[in-house]
Amino acid sequence: MASIAVLGYGVVGTGIANLINKNKERFKSITGEELNISSILVKDKNKHEQKQNYHLVTDSIEKIFNNPVDIVVEVMGGLHPAYEYVKKALKLKKHVVTANKDLIAEYGEELLDIASDNGVTLNFEASVGGGIPILKPLMESLAGNKIFEIQAILNGTTNFILSKMYAENMGYKDALKLAQNLGFAEANPDSDVLGYDAARKLSILSTIAYGMKVNWVDINIEGITDIDEIDFEYAKLNGYIIKLLAISKNKDEKIYGFVKPVMIKSDSYLSKIDNELNGIVIEGDAVGNVFFSGKGAGMLPTASSVFGDIADIIQNKNKKNIKFNDKEAYIEKYWDEKSDWLVRIKTNDRLNTICNLSESFKNCHMYTSSVTQRDEVAAIIRNEPEFTLDSTFEKLSKLSYVTKIKKFMIL
Ligand code: HSE
Repeated sequence: MASIAVLGYGVVGTGIANLINKNKERFKSITGEELNISSILVKDKNKHEQKQNYHLVTDSIEKIFNNPVDIVVEVMGGLHPAYEYVKKALKLKKHVVTANKDLIAEYGEELLDIASDNGVTLNFEASVGGGIPILKPLMESLAGNKIFEIQAILNGTTNFILSKMYAENMGYKDALKLAQNLGFAEANPDSDVLGYDAARKLSILSTIAYGMKVNWVDINIEGITDIDEIDFEYAKLNGYIIKLLAISKNKDEKIYGFVKPVMIKSDSYLSKIDNELNGIVIEGDAVGNVFFSGKGAGMLPTASSVFGDIADIIQNKNKKNIKFNDKEAYIEKYWDEKSDWLVRIKTNDRLNTICNLSESFKNCHMYTSSVTQRDEVAAIIRNEPEFTLDSTFEKLSKLSYVTKIKKFMIL
């Protein structure tokens, strides 16, 4: 019998308890092993009185560590005390499964070393892409590839918000509230909407894919809080969709990574990824492009990945030790490739702003459509690297009549 302690009984913890109970018989008939939840750690027992597994609920971490537990499932989220509990569990030679991207992005290297030193496994499939199997395919099935590039939608909450704003003209706040009610958003949704959650997930994927430590804080990060309905109108005029993309590339062992809202063409892989779905395109030298998609957030999709990690531990007991390479990646702020851009400049002097843009960029098409605001110049700039754009905009932003500049990469 495999005894499992679950740390956390929120949305994901509840999903795991349900999925384990539902699959007990089938799992036993396939593997011969019985899964048994021995305890569930919560902060406040009173809040869980009405729950099905209340008899398993405890508020004492010591009680969990003092009992014979084989696998600790950490789904509390946040860095502390999750870090301390996971570290202690590994040192006590208990296998750990976690869905916690903050924890893995911050302490993954250290915790994987501790797991390895203690001959136990730390699995974290649910930390990236929710229910999508992505880390195992990346580490195992794609092991014969040098990975060049990752292009992904990695945050269900922001993808849900942008999808609702695009398709149903829903306001940002209403869409965020709906995502929170559906259980996609983090306890503090700032980390979703400011792009941090996607950046942490991108850093985990990139660290595995490129075999060097990609720190999430070194990634260029921009969230979705500044996106308004006019951005969507410009996007629609050109047949583009706005998505919060997480992209990293490895060129000559230099890494470039960003998380930002991008206008993507409707024929791209990721344009069809709506609502809480996540999508990940991985480019390898042998395989070419492979595309993964599925639900990136929510109770049962996340529980599905956690269950898979538990099954993996039971079936491969002590056979697997994942490690992160401790070599730090050199992260480029600007990539050398050229792109097309949509820019919106708030200005009190449209004429001079148009002249300025035309002089600065060889290939610049001004918008003249009804979308264009009276105090704004909008344009498509073709085939320029981001560095050129940013240095021109830095000068432009110092002009007295320019009040705000917004730019979207077009992919
Ligand atoms: N808040 C996260 C998201 C949950 O919306 O993607 C899954 O990691």
